[in-house]
Amino acid sequence: MTHLSVNINKIATLRNARGGNIPDVQKAAIDIERFGAQGITLHPRPDERHIRYKDVRLLKPIVKTEFNIEGNPTEDFIQLVLEVIPAQVTLVPDDPNQLTSDHGWDTIKHKTFLQDVIGRFHEKGIRVSIFTDPEPEMVHHAKETGTDRVELYTESYASGYHKDREKAIAPFVEAAKAGGEVGLGLNAGHDLDLNNLRYFAQNIPGLMEVSIGHALISDALYYGLENTVQLYLRELVISN
Ligand code: PXP
Repeated sequence: MTHLSVNINKIATLRNARGGNIPDVQKAAIDIERFGAQGITLHPRPDERHIRYKDVRLLKPIVKTEFNIEGNPTEDFIQLVLEVIPAQVTLVPDDPNQLTSDHGWDTIKHKTFLQDVIGRFHEKGIRVSIFTDPEPEMVHHAKETGTDRVELYTESYASGYHKDREKAIAPFVEAAKAGGEVGLGLNAGHDLDLNNLRYFAQNIPGLMEVSIGHALISDALYYGLENTVQLYLRELVISN
């Protein structure tokens, strides 16, 4: 069964637009769990333009499902994660000013760095996932970083889905196979939505978790948050 982890950064973006506490990200996290999601993802960025470091600290005792913190492992980020001790940390090589994550790790070039950082998280018992492009070579080398899982970056799948979904998913099938060969757990995320999620989950065996934010929170404007979470869960249930 593939778990749904909802990235609630967009709720914080809306809140930050007015400076108050509407919408309330803590209430949203509690409700999203109540509606059935199996995890909550937060992606604090150095400029705190959506989720703030303070939100991460406040949400830790509130989130009862899988708490996943993702981000670029700067020293500030590492210290935050070591203090909060989430169930999972997802490491992403994004620049501070990047609009959103747009590539996975070069697991050859950054292997030593990743080994060091992952070792620090493992000392605290935190499971680690690293954001990876759908390239078998990168996945094989990811194993040597010590990571527990990889999160496949699904933007190319999502953008190719409508034109030729078989072609779009092919690299992900190969990357998933590579992960299975070396015993890595498999997550996926970025640009997954109600149109493309089912086909992805149906064709990627052993998919443990999807992390979805932008489309899900946008869909909630039309369908409501409770319905939307259930619609996404249904795609995953049908595909299993
Ligand atoms: N995974 C990672 C590493 C991300 O950076 C993001 C976006 O913050 C997501 C998943 C979720 O992507 P989306 O918001 O497009 O669903």
